[in-house]
Amino acid sequence: MTIVNSIEELKEITQDFSRYSVGFVPTMGALHEGHLSLIRKAREENDKVIVSIFVNPTQFLEGEDLDKYPRRDEADIKICELSGVDILFMPSIDMMYDRDELSISAPAIRGFILEGTKRAGHFNGVLQIVMKLFNLVLYNRPAKLRAYFGKKDAQQLVLIWQMVKNYFLNIEIVPCDIIRDSDGLALSSRNVYLSKEERSKALAISRSLKRASKLVMQNELNSAKIIDEMYKVLSELEVEYIAIVNREFKQIDNVEIGDTIILVASLVGTTRLIDNIWI
Ligand code: PAF
Repeated sequence: MTIVNSIEELKEITQDFSRYSVGFVPTMGALHEGHLSLIRKAREENDKVIVSIFVNPTQFLEGEDLDKYPRRDEADIKICELSGVDILFMPSIDMMYDRDELSISAPAIRGFILEGTKRAGHFNGVLQIVMKLFNLVLYNRPAKLRAYFGKKDAQQLVLIWQMVKNYFLNIEIVPCDIIRDSDGLALSSRNVYLSKEERSKALAISRSLKRASKLVMQNELNSAKIIDEMYKVLSELEVEYIAIVNREFKQIDNVEIGDTIILVASLVGTTRLIDNIWI
C-alpha cells in the first residue's frame, strides 16, 4: 500500500490507471467494520482500491464535533494495509481548500430537509469535498470508477447520486448495507462518544426500526401509524425526527415496498445518532 499525502503524488501514482477499474472509498477515518465492508466490496469488484481519509471541516457546523472527531491515523493505516488497499490518500486541509472557495449547494428541497434542516449547510460541505475527491480520482481517467457509500447516511448517498447525475460524472455509485453490532446498534465513528449507559439506551433506535419493519411485514403501511409506534419505542430518547420517505427523499403517506426508507435521528446524551432501514 502506498500512503499519499499530496495531490501531485496522487496524480503521478495513478498515471497508468486508465488500464484499470478503480474502487474508491472516501472516509473521515476512525475506520470501523462499516468502512471495512465498503473496502472489501471495492476490493472484490475492482483492480485497484483507493481509500481517502480526510476529516472535512466544511461539513461540520459551528459547535459540532470537528475538534473532537475521533482521529486514529495509525490504526487506520494498519486496517487499510491489511484490507488490501492500494493507495491511501491522506491530504491536508490546505491542499484541499483555497481561502476563497467556489461552493456547491445541495438541492433546495432534498438537501434542506431532515439532516439538511438539523445541520443546515452540512450537505454543501459534503458535496464540495466529494466532488473534489472524485475529480482527483478521475484525473487519470480510470477505465471504470466505482465509489462506495454506506446506506446509513441515506440522504448523503441520495444527494451524491444526484450530484453525479447533475454534473455528468463518469462514476458508478455503489450503495452498501448498514453494518450493525450484534446488539443491533448501527456502526458509526461517533459511537465512541457513548457511555455504557448511553450505548444501552441507544439500542432503542434500531429497535424502533425493527418495530417499523415488523409492522410493514404485518401489512401496516400507513406512515403516520408506523411513526407513532416508533415514537413509543423511542420514548426515553430525545428524538430529532422520524421520517418515511421514498428513494427520492419525498415524504410518503404510505410505505411503498421496494421504494421506502424509514429514518431516525436522535440525541443520546450529547451524541447525535442516525439510523435507517430500506424497505
Ligand atoms: O460519510 C463520510 O464519511 C463523509 O461525509 C464523506 C463522504 C467521506 C465526505 O467527507
